[in-house]
Amino acid sequence: MKSLAILASGSGSNAEKIMEYFKNSEKAKIALVASNKADAFVLERAKKFEVPTFTFSKKELEEGFLLKKLQAEKIDWVILAGFLLKIPAELIRAFPDQMVNIHPALLPKYGGKGMYGAHVHEAVKAAGDTETGVTIHLVNEHYDEGKIIFQAATSVEESDSPEDIASKVHALEHRYFPEVIESLL
Ligand code: GRF
Repeated sequence: MKSLAILASGSGSNAEKIMEYFKNSEKAKIALVASNKADAFVLERAKKFEVPTFTFSKKELEEGFLLKKLQAEKIDWVILAGFLLKIPAELIRAFPDQMVNIHPALLPKYGGKGMYGAHVHEAVKAAGDTETGVTIHLVNEHYDEGKIIFQAATSVEESDSPEDIASKVHALEHRYFPEVIESLL
């Protein structure tokens, strides 16, 4: 049985899908939901699934507070599901090839600094792309550049607003993220 920790900064709809998926799993258990935002909705979602939560500040993250907690809880895999702070190199090194992120675009397009959330979908719209999608990748010390595990695409119509694009991408994330995680374990 693998122990998973989910890191999220916001709503946590992906985190919820993952908790739901592994609720009765014999392969993995969501042992912790951790957030840098004390009022992130993901913490409410965790309570619903009776998953322990943990919050920390940016400074505490940089000082190794989260790493200590993950080690104390004997976490095997770290899942980034809408986590917006830079992960300290020490934490990445503590989970070699065992940290996975979801990015709401087809990397290497629309990755890197500043490319998160609505910014990504606005950029896709501004470029006039006819497709976008989701990328699930391992995390290394360069943001959005780790090994790509999985991608799925969806079409973008001319009439789609950035919000429409976001909901198409979210649907793909919810559909695939839990089972891609399972396939990695
Ligand atoms: C997702 O679009 C994910 O790709 C990105 O952050 C968003 C999180 O959404 N990294 P939610 O909090 O899971 O609803």
